[in-house]
Amino acid sequence: MAELKKLNVLMCGTGEYTTGWTGSGASTSDKKIGVVALTLFDLRRREKVDHLAMVGVNGKKFPAIREHLEKNIAGAYKDMDVSFEEFPKDGLVDPESYKTAINQMKSGEAVIIFTPDSTHFSIALYAIERGLHVLITKPATKTLSDHNTLIEAAKKHNVVCFVEHHKRFDPVYSDAKAKAATLGEFNFFNAWMSQPKSQLETFREWAGKDSDISYYLSSHHIDICCWILQDIAIPTRVIASAATGIATSEPYNCVPQTEDTITLMVDWESVRSKTHRGTAVYTASWTAPLKAGIHSAQHWYYMAEKGDITVDQAHRGYDVTVDDTGKAWINPFYMKYSPSESGHFDGQRGYGYISIEKFIDAVRSVNAGLTQPSQYDKTGLPTIRNTVLTTAILNAGRISLDEKRPVGIKKDGEQWILE
Ligand SMILES: NC(=O)c1ccc[n+]([C@@H]2O[C@H](COP(=O)([O-])OP(=O)(O)OC[C@H]3O[C@@H](n4cnc5c(N)ncnc54)[C@H](O)[C@@H]3O)[C@@H](O)[C@H]2O)c1
Repeated sequence: MAELKKLNVLMCGTGEYTTGWTGSGASTSDKKIGVVALTLFDLRRREKVDHLAMVGVNGKKFPAIREHLEKNIAGAYKDMDVSFEEFPKDGLVDPESYKTAINQMKSGEAVIIFTPDSTHFSIALYAIERGLHVLITKPATKTLSDHNTLIEAAKKHNVVCFVEHHKRFDPVYSDAKAKAATLGEFNFFNAWMSQPKSQLETFREWAGKDSDISYYLSSHHIDICCWILQDIAIPTRVIASAATGIATSEPYNCVPQTEDTITLMVDWESVRSKTHRGTAVYTASWTAPLKAGIHSAQHWYYMAEKGDITVDQAHRGYDVTVDDTGKAWINPFYMKYSPSESGHFDGQRGYGYISIEKFIDAVRSVNAGLTQPSQYDKTGLPTIRNTVLTTAILNAGRISLDEKRPVGIKKDGEQWILE
């Protein structure tokens, strides 16, 4: 049996998803101690990973980040080593520090990217070209051509490249995919995902400038829909519509081009039948009401020839009411932060954790010569190749809003392109 070696990992981005630390202190969302670093610290305790590093832009943030991780992770769970190497070092500010960090790595090691949407592509390509395996948060890239470039680069350098679409590991969503496969031709899909208006403060740095709410939230359910329809139908045309006026007004005052709520309407064509066509509507908003008892509203409806599926992942039959803050619907199936009976971290079955562990397992298996990166394309895992239609729809949606026209999606040889 080949030996599965412990993996060295570089985390790119030191923000809310990585550490739970935002520019204005500990996050007030449902990820107060983050997801990526916590999962990797626990995987180090479980002897799957070894040396950990973290790269951001502003090295001055690290003392506060370390204090936050010491107090809330090392102080909360038994046997948790929260040490990591930092870049940029010595309190320097350097947006290209990821190159310094990557240049020190050996091929076969791994990079996990949770940085602003517009930076994913250049960081991922730089890492792949140096023989490193890469996990990129959603949206993988903002354009379909960049996504296609990453597919080719990962193939050329024979590395694992996954997109961190953790909802594929939610037991309800993966079961729903299996059920949908028995329901015949696709007819209609409708998804809603939203976060409260207060997020416009959290996202002030990039909202409407670097990315939009469709890329940020609809990427989740567009990917789930593409995954469900993988062998059933293909998308052919996207037309987008946006509601505006809240984000750009007091007290948020986002830049004038910021949309509040974006809807993409997508035509789908059956791959098996000449007559069956379907419609999907994906809506995302960051101007939802405050104090709704949930951080992200998220529900969808799927209808096919022989039946339908309804999912509400914001309300999972578990709510907690506290005098000061009122009622809240909790989702420990994503990240369970309460410790085990022994005092250790106990969230290994959460789909936020599983999503990262699956990537680490795939990389260790490839490094041990047990599997090839291309094998993962044949599974339901969110490889860069398996997620190309998600980016095609998101990119087409952005073009449709900017150019006020429908945008076609089609296959040109082996590659998907927009028209
Ligand atoms: N926060 C969430 O709940 C969540 C969930 C899933 C996916 N994501 C995705 O994760 C990404 C980042 O999200 P976040 O919420 O952690 O954001 P954040 O704004 O809290 O953090 C972004 C981090 O990226 C760093 N960064 C920016 N440019 C960089 C560069 N050139 N090199 C290295 N680091 C750089 C910043 O210093 C910061 O630490 C986004 O693409 C987002 O869509 C976020």
